[in-house]
Amino acid sequence: MTQIIDIDGKNLDKSSETEKLVKAAGIIKSGGTVVFPTETVYGLGANGLDPESVKKIFAAKGRPSDNPMILHISDMGMLGEIAVGISDKAKELIAKYWPGPLTLVLKKSDKVPHEATGGLDTVAVRMPSHPVALKLIALAGVPIAAPSANISGKPSPTLSKHVIEDLNGKVDMILAGDQTEIGLESTVIDLVEDNPVLLRPGSISLKQLEEVLGDVKVDKSISQKVEKGQEVRSPGMKYRHYAPKGDMVLVKGDIERVIYTIKHLLGDAGKEGQRTVAIVPEEYIEQFIEIKALNMGSIKRPEEIMTRLYSCLRECDEYGAQMVAAPYFENEDEFMAVNNRLSKAAGHNVIQAD
Ligand code: TXA
Ligand code: MG
Repeated sequence: MTQIIDIDGKNLDKSSETEKLVKAAGIIKSGGTVVFPTETVYGLGANGLDPESVKKIFAAKGRPSDNPMILHISDMGMLGEIAVGISDKAKELIAKYWPGPLTLVLKKSDKVPHEATGGLDTVAVRMPSHPVALKLIALAGVPIAAPSANISGKPSPTLSKHVIEDLNGKVDMILAGDQTEIGLESTVIDLVEDNPVLLRPGSISLKQLEEVLGDVKVDKSISQKVEKGQEVRSPGMKYRHYAPKGDMVLVKGDIERVIYTIKHLLGDAGKEGQRTVAIVPEEYIEQFIEIKALNMGSIKRPEEIMTRLYSCLRECDEYGAQMVAAPYFENEDEFMAVNNRLSKAAGHNVIQAD
C-alpha cells in the first residue's frame, strides 16, 4: 500500500506539515521508499547508505541495476561522509550553486555501497534547494539515494499526478507537492579527473560552469546516439529515456521553416490516418488549426520550455499520438538541456527543415 500525502512546501513550519515529514523520514530510516518533490523533478528516495533500501528503488522503477543514483544531502557534513578528495574547484561550484540543481560526480568513500553507484567507485551528489527535499533528508539523517520518480523509460515526473500514475502501489509513500519549478533533471558534472566533463546538461548551463571551472569537456553522449555496447561515462545516458510511444521527429533550422516543415509532415501523416501531435513554442500555436499542437512555452523563455517539456511528452501518450514532431533549437547554449532531452525522446531522429 502506498500512502499518498499532500504536502505544502511553502508552510513546512506548520505542525501538520512537519508531522508528515517526520513520518516520511521514519520510513526512510526503517528501510522504505518515499517519493518527494525537488526543484528539478520528483525523486524516488531511500536510504543511500543501505544496500537493501537501494535495491527497492531499482525494483519500483524497473530500472537496470548498473544505472547509478544521485545521493541527495542536506548539509556539508553529509558530503564529507560520502565523498573524498574534493577539489578546490568543486568547492567553488558548491559555494555558488548549492543548494540547487547541480550534481557533482566525485570519488566515493567506503561508506557508500556499490549498489548505489552501479558498481562505480564514484558517487553523484546533490544538495537540492526544495524545502520538502531538504527537510526530509535532514530529518532522515542520511543521504537519500533518489533517481527521478518515473518508471524507467518514461519522462521524469514534474507533477504529483505523474508520480501517482507511475508508482502508486510500488512505493511506501508519495509526498504530493506542487509542480516542480525547473522541470528537467539537474546538470551533472564529473569532477573526478583534473578535466571536468559535463555528463548531463540542465538549467545550470555550460557557460555558468565554465565561469568557475574554465574549459569543460562535453560528453559525447549528450549530442550523439550511444550505440549498443559502447562505453559511457554516465550509464544513464545510454538508455532511451523520456520517449513517447509514437515515432518522434525533430526539425532543425530557422524556426519559421521548422514550423512550416512540421505542419507539412504532420498534415501528410494525418491524411494517412495517423494521430499526430506537434510540440511547439507558444508563438506558433495559432498556426496549427487542424493539427493537434501542444504549447511548450515561449521561445523567449527557455526556462519555461524546460518546465513544460515533460508534461508535453506525457500528453502525447495520453492522446495516443502515433507521430510527434517538435523543433530542435538553434541557440545551443540556452537550449542545450531542452535539445538533449528532445533528442533522447526522438531517438536522435533529427531532420533539416525544408
Ligand atoms: O534532478 C535530478 O538530478 C533528479 C532529482 C530527483 O534529484 N534525479 C535524477 O536522477 O535525475 P537519475 O537517477 O534519474 O539520473 C542520474 C544521472 C544518470 O544519468 C546517472 O547515470 C548519472 O546521473 N550518474 C549517477 N551516478 C553517477 C556516477 N557515479 N558517475 C557518472 N554518472 C552518474
Ligand atoms: Mg531519470
